[in-house]
Amino acid sequence: MSPFLLTRTLPENATAAALRADVLDGLTRTPKELPPRWFYDARGSELFEEITRLPEYYPTRAEREILVREAPRIAALAGARTLVELGSGSSEKTRHLLDALPALHSYVPVDVSESALRGAADALLAERPELRIHALIADFTGLTELPAAPGPRLLVFLGGTIGNLLPEERARFLRSTRALLEPGDTLLLGTDLVKDEETLVRAYDDTAGITADFNRNVLNVLARELGADVDPADFDHVALWDRDREWIEMRLRARSALTVKIPELNLLVPFAEGEELRTEVSAKFRREGVHRELAESGWEPVEWWTDAAGRFALSLARAVD
Ligand code: AVJ
Repeated sequence: MSPFLLTRTLPENATAAALRADVLDGLTRTPKELPPRWFYDARGSELFEEITRLPEYYPTRAEREILVREAPRIAALAGARTLVELGSGSSEKTRHLLDALPALHSYVPVDVSESALRGAADALLAERPELRIHALIADFTGLTELPAAPGPRLLVFLGGTIGNLLPEERARFLRSTRALLEPGDTLLLGTDLVKDEETLVRAYDDTAGITADFNRNVLNVLARELGADVDPADFDHVALWDRDREWIEMRLRARSALTVKIPELNLLVPFAEGEELRTEVSAKFRREGVHRELAESGWEPVEWWTDAAGRFALSLARAVD
C-alpha cells in the first residue's frame, strides 16, 4: 500500500486564536454575527450529517444525483492525474469521481478535521491501495500551496459551501484557488440554486428541529472553548430568505433580554429581547451569476449541470491565464 501522508498547514493553536478573534469582533458589532465555520465541532458535524438526510434538505441528494450521472463526463473533461478536494469530510460523494478516474495518481483531501481525513483515507486505501493520498489539515479559505503531485489537477468544492462565503470572500476564494493551479487545470464547484422561498426556508428550518439544534450548537462551542455562560435554550432558531441578496440567513434570536459572559475574553455581550445574532449566510445562485463570478476570477466556465428538478448545479471551469 502507498504511504498515507498527512500535513498540518495550521499551527495546533491557530483555530483557538481564530475563534477568539471572530467572537471578539462579531459579538461586539451591530448587528451581531459569527462566521459559520464554528458550527462544526464533533457534535455539529454529526448534526450536519443528520441534516443531509432530512426530507427537507435537498442539496446533498441533488448534488449526488448530478455526480452519479456526470462523473464519467467530468472525469473525461478534467483528465486529472491529481484530485484536490476542499472540505472533503468523509469523501463520500467524491467516490463517484474517484471511481471514474481509474488512472488517478494522487488524491489531496483538505479538511480541518484530522479524524475525518484519517477515516476517509483508510476507507479509500482499502479499495485503491495504489492511490497516493496526501491529506492536508487546513481551512479551505486559507490554503496557499498544494503538495507536489502531477497535473492536470481537478479541484473540487462540493456541497454548496461556497454559498457560506459573502460575495467579497467568494471572489477572494475563487482567485486564491485559481492561484493554486496551472492553466488547463479544472475546478468542479457545487452551488445551490435560487428557487421558491418555501422550499428554501424549509431546508433551513426542518420540522424535526435538527437545523435548530445545529444552529444553537455554536453556543455550546462558545461555552466549551471560551467558558461562555450561555444557555442555548435561551435562543430561538431563525431561518429567513433575503430575496434581494438571494441568500438564506440563519440567526439566533434572544428569547428575553440577557447577557452572555465570556470570561476568557473579558467580555460581556448584552442581548435585548428579540435581538438576533447572524450565524450563517447560505447564498443561492443562478447560472449567469456563477459564470460571471468564475470569469472574474480567472476561470473559464466549461460545463453546467443540474439535477433533474433543477435545484442544484455543478459547474466545471478551466483555469486560464
Ligand atoms: C452544506 C455547508 C453549505 O449552507 O446549506 C445546512 C450548511 N446550514 N443547514 C448549507 C447548512 C444549515 C450548508 N453547507
